[in-house]
Amino acid sequence: MNGVSKPVTIQDILKMKGVTKIAALTAYDATFARLFDEAGLDVILVGDSLGMVIQGHDTTLPVTLDEMIYHTRICSRGVKRALLISDMPFMTYQASVEQALVNCARCIKEGGARAVKLEGGEEIAPTIHRLVVSGIPVMGHIGMQPQRVNEYGGYSLQGRNPDEAEHIMRDALAVQAAGAFAIVLEKIPTSLAGQITRDLRIPTIGIASGPECDGQILVSYDMLGLADQFKFRFVRRYLEGAQLIRDAVKAYAGDIRAGKFPSAEESFE
Ligand code: KIV
Repeated sequence: MNGVSKPVTIQDILKMKGVTKIAALTAYDATFARLFDEAGLDVILVGDSLGMVIQGHDTTLPVTLDEMIYHTRICSRGVKRALLISDMPFMTYQASVEQALVNCARCIKEGGARAVKLEGGEEIAPTIHRLVVSGIPVMGHIGMQPQRVNEYGGYSLQGRNPDEAEHIMRDALAVQAAGAFAIVLEKIPTSLAGQITRDLRIPTIGIASGPECDGQILVSYDMLGLADQFKFRFVRRYLEGAQLIRDAVKAYAGDIRAGKFPSAEESFE
């Protein structure tokens, strides 16, 4: 925690660089958002990963803006302290700066987010600039960008060779210069993430990018072991959630079938 109980601001996140690591997770509904907020996370991201872990798609690409606004709005009812950020889904900000302004503003006005996250580097910098000067704080997202899955042909590590690494470094500098307050570094080598973290004055938040970033984020359903059909090397499971739920539901069904639920104490006269 950053030591304050008042809402975490963009300024707080900026000041944490080099002082305290930023702890972030994704959330998709009010109950989880409330639990994560009460546990003291600094940042809660309503990720477009909801396309995979909530909606059961193979990629994040089908997620719509209305769905993202809905999930942001329900999360916002559970969050009192953490910085709530809405992820902008595929093709809701790429077509034009005007499209990005209108759609990002909806996540703030209708969703209750306090910032938005956009995937993209140099090519998206003018859009980030317009959003920021219009009063919409932006978190960048570079390295492996899941919305580019069709271009990559999978979710492979990015920045492995010097050309790719140089490109990602240019992306990081462009996103910072455009006014982003933080930047997600996804699935790049530890050494590159460390270099970017040292070269930027804004915080880096890593996922699958090693320990040298200013903070870390994971998909909550991975970290809680709920999406146990997926197993990733970069995820540390803090709970075997899926197994606990299966066991609990089996016990419940067993009690019903054995006539043990409900008991007299669980019933009314
Ligand atoms: O959609 C998402 O959950 C994300 C984070 C994992 C960074 O983009």
